[in-house]
Amino acid sequence: MGKAKVFVTRRLPEATLNRLAAHCELEIWDDFMPPDYATITEKIRDLDGLLSLLTDRVDAELMDAAPNLRVISNLAVGYDNIDVDAATERRIPVGHTPDVLTETTADFAFALLMAVARRIPEAERYILAGKWRTWHPTVLSGQDIFGATLGIIGFGRIGQAVARRATGFNMTILVNTEENRDKIAEIGAVEASLEQVLRESDFVSLHVPLTEVTQHMISEAELALMKSTAILINTARGSIVDGAALYKALDRGDILAAGLDVTDPEPIPREHPLLTLENCLVVPHIASASVATRTKMADMAADNLIAGLSGVPLPNCVNPEVYT
Ligand code: GLV
Repeated sequence: MGKAKVFVTRRLPEATLNRLAAHCELEIWDDFMPPDYATITEKIRDLDGLLSLLTDRVDAELMDAAPNLRVISNLAVGYDNIDVDAATERRIPVGHTPDVLTETTADFAFALLMAVARRIPEAERYILAGKWRTWHPTVLSGQDIFGATLGIIGFGRIGQAVARRATGFNMTILVNTEENRDKIAEIGAVEASLEQVLRESDFVSLHVPLTEVTQHMISEAELALMKSTAILINTARGSIVDGAALYKALDRGDILAAGLDVTDPEPIPREHPLLTLENCLVVPHIASASVATRTKMADMAADNLIAGLSGVPLPNCVNPEVYT
């Protein structure tokens, strides 16, 4: 039997690719931009494995175009780009890359929170615009982080890691979650309803996965509950927040500011209204982007892929029911 055939939808670190090449015949998509859906469908026809990114839609139709497909390995912790139910029906295991990015992503959520609270990007624009003429008692005053109330929505690995950081800033931490409720008190946080989190927090940070339930969970009504001095931070998925409602709330001053690592759509178009606002910091989905973490994620995705091709359970499988 020849080597298994695999399509990797972007160039990964060389060491990871070399390791994969020892196990399978690789086709690597070398462009900076992702392959489009039609291209992946074409490439996948006689493949045994797919190493996908969060920019690749992997749906039932795509799976049906690949009768030999034995494993899908997504280089991300989130997997809303994959129809996992369709994969499970076809008994295809789906891998992802949890844990290794938790602390890096929590660091970044906090960095975004602090940058927006203390208006760092605005302050740089101020200098570049030639406006720094003297020290002034009120110019570019922001919000205190120390001692403020942080609302965390979703208490998976990353939500908990953000909470741990917040304890160092002596923050009051309110948590709204369906999972890991037993961990809340352990970290020194307090459980709260969604309404209480929105009403009482100075910062609201989102850490739920994107599902049919969480899509637009922060919309006009929820933003209306927030303090006019509150700051919204989203490092989860863009469409958890209704972008049009957020624009209105920021523009009218219903909330103070937002920091977004994720947007809907991605990439955010250059002419998107959110990009016209001084009080909205948008960055291009980079929360897990440290050199060390992205390297570990690539290795983990390779481990999942190799396991799937070898017919052994994936070390990090989102649909382990395929093995029962
Ligand atoms: C990034 O957003 C990921 O899901 O890994």
